[in-house]
Amino acid sequence: MDDCGARARRCFEESFGRGPREVVRAPGRVNLIGEHTDYNDGFCLPIAIDRGMYIAWDVSAHDAVRVYNADPSLPSTSIPLRQPLHKEPETPWYSYIQGCIQVLQDAGVELRGCDLALCGDVPMGSGLSSSAALEVATIFALLRACEHPLSLQEVAVLAQRAENTFVGVQCGILDQLSSACCRAGHAMLMDCRSLELQHVPMGDDVAVVIADTGKRRGLVDSAYNERRSQCEMGARALAVSHLRDVTMQGLMMAHDQGALDTLAKQRCEHVVAENGRTRAAAACMRAGDSDALGLLMDQSHADLRDKFAVTCPELDHMVAVARSLPGCLGARMTGAGFGGCTVSLVQRDAAEDFVPALLAGYAQYSPLPAAVYVSAAAPGVGVVA
Ligand code: GLA
Repeated sequence: MDDCGARARRCFEESFGRGPREVVRAPGRVNLIGEHTDYNDGFCLPIAIDRGMYIAWDVSAHDAVRVYNADPSLPSTSIPLRQPLHKEPETPWYSYIQGCIQVLQDAGVELRGCDLALCGDVPMGSGLSSSAALEVATIFALLRACEHPLSLQEVAVLAQRAENTFVGVQCGILDQLSSACCRAGHAMLMDCRSLELQHVPMGDDVAVVIADTGKRRGLVDSAYNERRSQCEMGARALAVSHLRDVTMQGLMMAHDQGALDTLAKQRCEHVVAENGRTRAAAACMRAGDSDALGLLMDQSHADLRDKFAVTCPELDHMVAVARSLPGCLGARMTGAGFGGCTVSLVQRDAAEDFVPALLAGYAQYSPLPAAVYVSAAAPGVGVVA
């Protein structure tokens, strides 16, 4: 068990005076391509990363879920079962756990009293889905405690529902489905309409490098929701339920006929093109064509910057520095945008030099504390040995 899993176990022992029944882990994710497509019923191609949320758990005789965090700055809590729950604004991280309990109970799951000790190493607010990791790990642990069988897709759907309805963030399914269902050594092509998943082996010749710009995503919820509603308006103007059902030709015709103004056309263009790029990226990966995959990532970033307008100077700069370095095959922002992280595809033998060079190049531009890591494609949620 790695450090964070061991810390969750230790925290459990110290807090509850006995050992946990087991430790579960749900990973964060990085999306290789397919951005702002999930809520348009489209396609995404994420990997799970080797950082995540660990929960040591055991059932208890209390009719409550008692929670401790290995981070001593976060207070412990006890959340009663079978009672209406109200979000506590002072301790936002509880609301994720409360939301999970609420949606499980609303779905008719007979939860058992449970003790949890948490330890996570996904940096919060960096766009690597620390909240999805917390939700997926919580639901997975609570379901195991009451021996209620649900598929991992169902776990992801419930986790997304907790975030949408209780926490109040209108995210799509990308983050939760990645944390629940990704496989080690594979990227996952997900169809966000059918939830059909295809696991595509990652080549050994490339490394995935994640770079946190240090820029935290101010105003993200309002800007994210604005993009969502622009896409929904676009779909209405094109007489389809979701932009997934639109072709580039149909889009151009609708614009020529005056059904969409130029801004709406640009927003929709990104989504339509990105869905095509994402499926093409999975095909490139299968064919071992990393150069072509990298180019698709570059095109994705250009559209997110110029047409969808969700990048920021820090993201654009990090991508430009990455692109100027030897061995880089492609680079783009990842996640919601407006700050957070970039993802670069780098030839494996160049990755070691790439990491410090990227940090140094970015430091010339921005004083923000950046962090760069190489991540393997990790497994989705599971029990830690
Ligand atoms: C955030 C959301 C996801 C997805 C991405 C953009 O990470 O939580 O559902 O919409 O932004 O691709």
